[in-house]
Amino acid sequence: MRKDAALIDELEALEGEALRAIEAARDEGDLEGVRVTFLGRKEGRISLLLRRLGELPNELRPEAGQEANRVKGVVQGALEQRRGELEGPSREAAPVEDLSLPGRRNWIGGRHPITRVVDEICAIFRTLGFTRVRGPEAETEWYNFVALNTPLDHPAADEQDTLYLKGGHLLRSHTSPVQIRIMETHEPPIRIVVPGMVYRRDTYDATHAPAFAQIEGLAVDEGITFVDFKATLAEFSRRFWGPGTQVRFRPSFFPFTEPSAEVDVKRIHTFPDGTTRESDWLEIMGAGMVDPAVLENAGYDPERFTGFAFGMGPGRIAMLKYGIPDIRHFYDGDVRFHRQFAGP
Ligand code: PHE
Repeated sequence: MRKDAALIDELEALEGEALRAIEAARDEGDLEGVRVTFLGRKEGRISLLLRRLGELPNELRPEAGQEANRVKGVVQGALEQRRGELEGPSREAAPVEDLSLPGRRNWIGGRHPITRVVDEICAIFRTLGFTRVRGPEAETEWYNFVALNTPLDHPAADEQDTLYLKGGHLLRSHTSPVQIRIMETHEPPIRIVVPGMVYRRDTYDATHAPAFAQIEGLAVDEGITFVDFKATLAEFSRRFWGPGTQVRFRPSFFPFTEPSAEVDVKRIHTFPDGTTRESDWLEIMGAGMVDPAVLENAGYDPERFTGFAFGMGPGRIAMLKYGIPDIRHFYDGDVRFHRQFAGP
């Protein structure tokens, strides 16, 4: 990077930092602290940066100098304005508006942490040939349970007790019904990932929410084997969690896959000082080979086609990835939480 550009970037970063600190100041004392930190004559961070202008080659100095003066002016202006606000209505004469003051910077916002994880997961599967699709949240019992080889009196249907709507519809308890919908309307080969919200009659606590996100995956074609299943999910896991990640397939049960597995990963954390630590085994998805009965219900010939399917919770994955202890942070809308995920 050009030297002047680096300096200007630093100036701009400082400007943002100073404006945030000014906005956060609660009283005159806070404000004076901010002033000294950024504008203090000897040790102020902006003053220190200004002194480094001398290091620049001659022809670059004017631009950097101008920018430095602008930042200084903006920060000074913001300090003044905040001081006025903190003094509040007790001030005698209302000041004339100074229209030359730059506006306060707004927070540009950021994607919700679950959306980030969904996008990241779908991007990895995209490179593996999977297309991102959606399906309806209001479903019928046929798509949500019966076509997925889950009779309504099956215990698996109880586990996914959901909310019923008028007219025989229900809020889908998982994204798996989209498997059937896509197979009904498309010919193999199928390779899809399906992010979306699902609903269950769960209490709202640190690890449960009655509405949460899932990502379904489905691959169906001639000749898809258990090897494709394991290799695809292991490859995904290593790309998402890092190359050193270990992957384990534990036997499990789902009515719509046979055999079924739960996929666990063991991550390697690398700390800033370079030391590493292995995580425990973390369960990240349910999965399996598509049950022939499901292929048949969707109108495919199970003698000809095979496939695998998987389902994961990006909310849970975001909690593990970002170290978030309580799922309710995602939904309570506290800006202090979401600010941590600012940026594109
Ligand atoms: N639908 C299952 C659930 O919500 C997850 C799953 C999807 C399992 C696809 C296997 C295959 O628990």
